[in-house]
Amino acid sequence: MTEVGKAALESPVIDNEEARRAQAAADSSEGLPPDQIDIEAMKVNQQFDLYTEENHWVWGHLFQKRMEQLVDFGSHVFLTGAKVINLNAERVPDLREVNARLNEITGWSSHGVPGYLPAKSFFAFLAQRQFPTTITVRPKASMDYLPEPDIIHDVFGHVPLHTDPVFADFLQTYGKAALYTNNPEHTKRLARLFWFTVEFGLINEDNTLKLYGSGLISSEGEGHHALESDKVDRRPFDLERVCDTDFEIDHYQPILYVLDSFEQLRDAMITYAERVLDEVGRIDELETITSAVGR
Ligand SMILES: [Fe+2]
Repeated sequence: MTEVGKAALESPVIDNEEARRAQAAADSSEGLPPDQIDIEAMKVNQQFDLYTEENHWVWGHLFQKRMEQLVDFGSHVFLTGAKVINLNAERVPDLREVNARLNEITGWSSHGVPGYLPAKSFFAFLAQRQFPTTITVRPKASMDYLPEPDIIHDVFGHVPLHTDPVFADFLQTYGKAALYTNNPEHTKRLARLFWFTVEFGLINEDNTLKLYGSGLISSEGEGHHALESDKVDRRPFDLERVCDTDFEIDHYQPILYVLDSFEQLRDAMITYAERVLDEVGRIDELETITSAVGR
């Protein structure tokens, strides 16, 4: 972890006993069977009054800066979602307010966690329509790039999409497949799927290329590179092909996949999840997807 990353993670917001206990619970969940993962123990309260003036300023500054591009080139699902959960430039979002709106629309909610979660624990949150989010704000000194996620990546970048019923079902279905599979080949393929959609996905809307992946939404450099660079190979989304594509971290993405619609993503995910969950005798898990399409 970088020094700046460490500084962000040592923020007063998570410098307390509750956060240390939650991190210990997260660390010790590694290797547990899926049904024994206790996501409640990994949650922390967002102590809103601990955010500093600088925290609110950084959030507001980046919010405004990103919206300059996103108003024209962010997916309308992102833009509508951000409005619905009332993200704004005035202050860091309060998760209680976000959840009050989110919950009544799709049943999703976002919960503060102290830092790194083992992969299966992350998937256990998704499988229950919950999103674990870092609650720290990057320091002003590293506003443009922070390798570790912070609330700008997690809440600004990810959470608006959870207001969309189709994306909401996709993400829970993904979580169930990724949680219950014990096949390393599926785990690898699902990690690629997450990367090329949730993190770095593009979508065609009204014949225009739009951003929806959090890594593109929350980063000015990545957002512009994804849409404008002639060095990017933009491929039509195809789940099998996505799952076969290696990704690289720590530099701008040379390959991106473009959806026609979020229905395309959800339907492909359901088909893949049926296969994955059938292999481990958990196909009935799909019946609990809250607004699952009639299959
Ligand atoms: Fe992310």
